[in-house]
Order: sequence, then C-alpha cells, then structure tokens
Amino acid sequence: TTNHLRHLESMATHPSGAGKIPRLNAVILGESLASEEDDLVFPSHDFSQQAHVPSPQKYLEMYNRSIVDPGGFWSDIASEFYWKEKWGQQVYSENLDVTKGKIKIEWFKGGITNICYNCLDKNVESGNGDKVALHWEGNEPDVDGSLTYRQLFEKVCQLANFLKDNGVKKGDTVIIYLPMLMELPITMLACARIGAIHSVVFAGYSAESLLQRIMDCKPKIVVTCNAVKRGKKVLNLKEIVDAALSESSQNGISVDSCLTYENESAMKKEDTKWQKGRDIWWQDVVPKYPTTCDVVWVDAEDPLFLLYTSGSTGKPKGVLHTTGGYMIYTATTFKYAFDYKESDVYWCTADCGWITGHSYVTYGPLLNGATVILYEGYVTRYSRKSLRVLGSVGEPINPSAWRWFFNVVGDSRCPISDTWWQTETGGFMITPLPGAWAQKPGSATFPFFGVEPVIVDEKGKEIEGECSGYLCVKSSWPGAFRTLYGDHDRYETTYFKPFPGYYFSGDGCSRDKNGYYWLTGRVDDVINVSGHRIGTAEVESALVSHPQCAEAAVVGVEHEVKGQGIYAFVTLVEGVPYSEDLRKSLVLVVRNQIGAFAAPDRIHWAPSLPKTRSGKIMRRILRKIASRQLDELGDISTLADPSVVDQLIALADS
Ligand code: WT7
Repeated sequence: TTNHLRHLESMATHPSGAGKIPRLNAVILGESLASEEDDLVFPSHDFSQQAHVPSPQKYLEMYNRSIVDPGGFWSDIASEFYWKEKWGQQVYSENLDVTKGKIKIEWFKGGITNICYNCLDKNVESGNGDKVALHWEGNEPDVDGSLTYRQLFEKVCQLANFLKDNGVKKGDTVIIYLPMLMELPITMLACARIGAIHSVVFAGYSAESLLQRIMDCKPKIVVTCNAVKRGKKVLNLKEIVDAALSESSQNGISVDSCLTYENESAMKKEDTKWQKGRDIWWQDVVPKYPTTCDVVWVDAEDPLFLLYTSGSTGKPKGVLHTTGGYMIYTATTFKYAFDYKESDVYWCTADCGWITGHSYVTYGPLLNGATVILYEGYVTRYSRKSLRVLGSVGEPINPSAWRWFFNVVGDSRCPISDTWWQTETGGFMITPLPGAWAQKPGSATFPFFGVEPVIVDEKGKEIEGECSGYLCVKSSWPGAFRTLYGDHDRYETTYFKPFPGYYFSGDGCSRDKNGYYWLTGRVDDVINVSGHRIGTAEVESALVSHPQCAEAAVVGVEHEVKGQGIYAFVTLVEGVPYSEDLRKSLVLVVRNQIGAFAAPDRIHWAPSLPKTRSGKIMRRILRKIASRQLDELGDISTLADPSVVDQLIALADS
C-alpha cells in the first residue's frame, strides 16, 4: 500500500486515529455540515447517500483493488464498452524505468474498438438517440443550438464521409483550428470515426504557432472557420490559417485542403479571403454526404490525438494519446469525479483547444451519454438550485477562491472537485470524489483509482508521511500519454529521466498529516497563466526575435487573477534607449508569435542578466526580483558579476 492509503486507512480504522472518520460518520448521520477544525468541508448526508462512492471505506475498497489488481479492475470497467475484439491476455504492459530500457506503456493492446462508436452509436443504439448530446450557446444571446445523440451521430458521419472522400485515411493527421462551435467536437469525433489523428490548435494561437504545429504533424487537411467574435471584436481566423498555410507550403509542407465553416454571425462568406482549389466551404459540401458512415476499427494502442503543450525548453511537445486506455480512463474519471447521473446536465467552460476540452467536454461526457453545454459565461444571474457538483482545474486554487466558489456559486451545498492532472495524464489523477470524504479547500485530496502518486526528494528517493517534494507517479494508468510525437527521446528525457523509475509531473507537492495532497505549482520553467501552460523559453525566443532585443529571461510571478503572470527581463541591443513604444512592440512580438494569452505582464529593463561564470542565467534571483522579495535573494556570490543585481533592482520600477 502507498503512503496516503496508509493515512486513509489509519483514519478509517483507528478509532483514536486522526478522528476524522468518526466525525465524517457523524456528519453522514446528519449532525453537522461543516467543520472549522482543519478547515474540513464535509459532503452533506443527502449527497453522500446518493453518490457512486458514498464513503472513504468504499473508496478504499475500490482503490485497493485498482492498485493490487489493475488489470482486473480496469478490464471490468472496459467490458462495459463496445469492443469489436477483446484485448489480449495481458491487459497492460509497462516499463517506466529508464534504467531498464525503453519507456513503454500499453493498455488493452490487441483490443479492437472505436471511441466515436462508443460515444455515439452505442448511445443511439441503447435508446438514447433522442437525448440531447450538445447544447450550444453562442456569443450573441440569440445564437444557440442543440443536437441530440442521433443528430450528432449524423453530423459526425457526414463529416467523416467528407474526410474520407478527401483522402484522409487511418493514421493521417487533421489539424482543427476552431473556436467553441459544435463543429469542433463534431470534427474531433469524425476524425476518430475513421481512425485519423486529430490535433486541435487553440484558436487563440497566432499564425506562427499554428505553422509550427503544421510543420510538426503535417496534416492532410486543416479545418477552421472564417471568423469568430470575442465580445464585439471580430477575429479573422481564416487569415491566420492562410498565413500559416502559405508559409508551410514554402517550407515544403503543403496541405491539400482547408475546410472552412462559415460562422455567419461573425463574418459573411463574401468577406472571406479564398484560395480556389484548396479552400472548401463546410456548408456547401458536408451536408451533401450520407448520414451514416462505417467505423474504421482501430487497435486500443492506435493513436487518437495529438495535443501540443509547452515545455520548459524548445518547441512545443506533441503529446500523443492512444485510443483504448484514454477512452476508459476519461469515461471513468468523468463518472466518479463529477458523480455523474443520467439526468444531469453538464457544463465545462474549457475550450476544446486544451486537454480539458478533449477529456471533459467531448470524450468523457459523451462516453457516459451525458448532455453537455458548450458556452463560456456568468454566474449569479440565474438560479443555481439544480447544481450538484462543481469542478476546478488547471492551477492551485487558493482557499479563499475555493470558499467563494463553494459559497457563492455552489450555495454552500455543492462539493467541489479540484482535479489535479495534465495534458500528459489524459484524465484526472488526484481528485476529490464528491460524497466520499471531507474536502480541504485548496487540496486536490486523494488519488483516483489506479493512480499511485509519490513524493520524492531531489535525489529521487520516495518520502513518506507528512512531507513536500516533487510529485511523481509510480506505475502507469490507462490514460497516460504514450510518447511525444516523433520524439520518444524527449519523452524519456523530460518525464522519466529526472527520477528513474517514476513519471515526473514537473509539479511540486506536499502531503499533510491526513494524507491530503496539496499542489504547489511548477518546479520547472513552465508558467501557468489562467490555466494555460506557457514555456519561459517560448516567450524568450519570441522576445529575442525582436531586432532591438539582445537577450531576454522570463519568469512567472504571482498574479491575483491569472494565478501566474509573465515577467520578462529584457536586455536591449547596445545603444538602443528604453521607451514605452519599445515596450509595447516587445509585447506585440509575443502576441504575434504565440498568442495574446502569452503576452508579458511586465517588461523589466535589464542592462545585463545575472549569470553564473559558466553563463547560466540564475532564474532563482530573477524570480525574487520580480516578486520584490529583495531580502530573499540568497547567495549571489557565484555570479560572474554580482553588481548586475543592484542594477536590476535600481530599474525595478522604471
Ligand atoms: C499543469 C498542467 C489539466 C488540465 C488543465 C491544465 C497545473 C492542473 C491543477 C490543480 C494545482 C494544477 C499543474 C500541472 N494544475 N490542475 N487542480 N491544482 N495545479 O493542463 O496545460 O497540461 O497543465 O497545470 O501545474 O502540471 P496543462
């Protein structure tokens, strides 16, 4: 058994223990709803009673089995889905230890299935065809729509037929550059239906970021729309795609077709720039295709999608997820973390451009036959009586934000699932199971079934009990990513070499005396701005591409609203004077090269940067300067020129 399990067990079995379980039982018996002691927030009696996992004891029973017998645990769940052929004798095989050879993770290998079939056909055939699958609310108050499972099935089939007809085959990639229209999940599902690999690029990324992804995964087709409205502003997405496509073809990667959806409320056809022979209007062709389309059956280990995410160095990483394990993992985490029930209407505010939109807007909910809302919007104007469970993800939520979410949004009634996970993990890893145990505001609580988190020290040694260190995972879980597209070496180096024997998350974490996990943020050079992962190296290379920028170093600083903000130290080319205009044009360069969400919040002029004698920038010092913790600069004697620090401090507020 693992650490936290021991903790939970001691909570559950020792009557003296930490005293939480008797307490929880008292609550379940209806004595009180919340306790200030240890800042525990208990689920209500009613909620726990109806929950899939109603008690810590039930969790322990299931968790225990998932760790002792992962194959049995997961194959029981997998059997509830449709497989054309069952997987082989071995449910999974893995090697997570770099010292023992190539890193390998496989689940349900030899099993033949299709995730689109399990999302749509299975629901239609089981009598849910008339249930609403997607409710969509547009940017304008009166622009909306909805699709039942049957209607969604038909739309997906039409597009799948179009893709096939345009030469997209099993294993080909398709880039999707769409805002949150229903056509976005439709396109993902259509790709999955024919075994094509989708790669959604968030429609806030610049032409250059899109180009980088096109060059890396060489898509057969790009699917986009002409424009989207953000508030009153019209963003011309097609122009961004045009720029990326013409640049990519000059670099030897030419994309055959660009399927363009006319997003009428933002821009009319007539106003859209067009390249004959390459561009195709969605509405002109797709509805003409048949509304059924045979599924292309795939192996559980065939790739499902690529999603690019930022690392601490170099170009974005193409995180590759495969079909079977991802399918089972997203379906199961969705069901338990949100205590999903058939009559629920489920809304996740995430954009499908991020992993959350893949796992918990599209696949997880549809695999459960849920009704999903696609919309980004407000809170207190409407009745919230029907809310059952709230979710939170992407960054550490501080206890006061947690309280606001709990009291204001959830009327002090709804459990919050503060889910810790990553693009790489495919689905929730550490998450409350609402109804099962008391929550602590700000803690993601305990691991999901099948997940063995460990905290290690700098040397990679597991530390026990109450402690803090680096968060790793010990063995594989079905939703784990299998490689970085085209770069298995980088996969091993980034995630498995830092602490041999473990998957390293890149996050710091502590575990308290009751075994609760508390995520403390990235320990590498990745910044998390409003839940968007941005590599410091990406921002730096954008900055230094400015002709007047000689050098740049970027760090994350605490930001009240965004969690973290981007703080850039910039050294200008000799003789160039500081000016507000220059500051603006540096910010603009980042907006243009990466996207508006990556724009630095601050530019700090730096005559030079603090470096070691070997030329390594000491970011530790820059972080302290950025957060104005000037009395915590630590040892600066190893700097090649310690006077640099005083120069930087002098310029701090200029
Ligand atoms: C990073 C992963 C996973 C979907 C959204 C972001 C941070 C994620 C939590 C949480 C504290 C969290 C971590 C992680 N993070 N969830 N509940 N509490 N931190 O996906 O872009 O792959 O980012 O987000 O730092 O490593 P992502």
